[in-house]
Amino acid sequence: MDGYSPIVFKDNDTFLILDQRKLPWKKEYINVKEVNDVCKAIKDMAVRGAPLIGITAAIGLYFGVKNSENWDEFEKKFNYSYDCLSKTRPTAVNLFFALNRLKEVKEEKKHVLPLHKLMKKLRATAIGIWEEQKGQDKRIGEFGSEYLKDKRSILTHCNTGTFATGGIGTALGIIKTMHKKGLLSLVYVNETRPYLQGIRLTAFELKNESVDYKIVTDNSCGMLFREGLVDAVIVGADRIARNGDTANKIGTYCLASMCKRHGITFVVAAPESTIDRTIDNLRQIPVEERSAEEVLKIGDKYFAPEGSKAIYYSFDLTDAKLIDAIITEKGVYEYPYRF
Ligand code: MRU
Repeated sequence: MDGYSPIVFKDNDTFLILDQRKLPWKKEYINVKEVNDVCKAIKDMAVRGAPLIGITAAIGLYFGVKNSENWDEFEKKFNYSYDCLSKTRPTAVNLFFALNRLKEVKEEKKHVLPLHKLMKKLRATAIGIWEEQKGQDKRIGEFGSEYLKDKRSILTHCNTGTFATGGIGTALGIIKTMHKKGLLSLVYVNETRPYLQGIRLTAFELKNESVDYKIVTDNSCGMLFREGLVDAVIVGADRIARNGDTANKIGTYCLASMCKRHGITFVVAAPESTIDRTIDNLRQIPVEERSAEEVLKIGDKYFAPEGSKAIYYSFDLTDAKLIDAIITEKGVYEYPYRF
């Protein structure tokens, strides 16, 4: 997405976060002054998408410690920043993966390197996670486009593109790669209530790449599938357990179940860092519950009668047996999964 980098980090002091809540109408960056700004941007979904949350948190952690003048100050700031960032969003495991990469560097090099050199190493590690992600996205795009080469019409949910990874994207990266290879005829984009990541962000990215797409409401899959309009569904993931059970944007489980009923290929695309090898199955995945307000309102306006209650699970859990393939930068895994 030329001109729309979801984060900008330069000259060591400039850290900008694109406010995705304002897209596609307004291009506005949040100018990060301190680590609390990063925590707020992640919590309030100015920046989102599992891999990008991790990358942003890693740079945020470095940003939180970079001006420490001595080891004591460094240690205090590191702990504060780590704690604040790790409490922002619970489901996307990439957040913890990225923060722990920096923590490991700190533990390993703390009494080995002088403070300014450790700082450089932390900076390089944070930027390195972003660079790695770009490469992983490309490989996922290659593996995915090969696996799905006979599928012409794809449906996707939420946003898994540049605005979710900082690279070409995971599920959307596959779609972009298929388009470049001339394999695609049409992409159906689920609007993705209540944040509308599909209608606002995925549509914006597809338009930018000149991919033909149609936006559909989140509850359209039954009719689309019955009419034979969709060949495959590709989604991203926020956390994958060892047995392949997957947490992803609310609505994913319904899609996977309907795919099974209609014999439609259902694929999850994610970097290996989304696989949580410390948990066995979906029962151990923490599912973020966000404020009911976010469901009751559209933009600033309440649509429900005053006093209405709502429940907002940000993610749902899909059993591995509903997933035909999980595609990572290492290749294509097919059910049954043994991560
Ligand atoms: O709440 P979000 O917008 O952070 O949720 C994003 C998703 O569910 C994506 O599908 C997932 O993070 C994969 S992003 C490559």
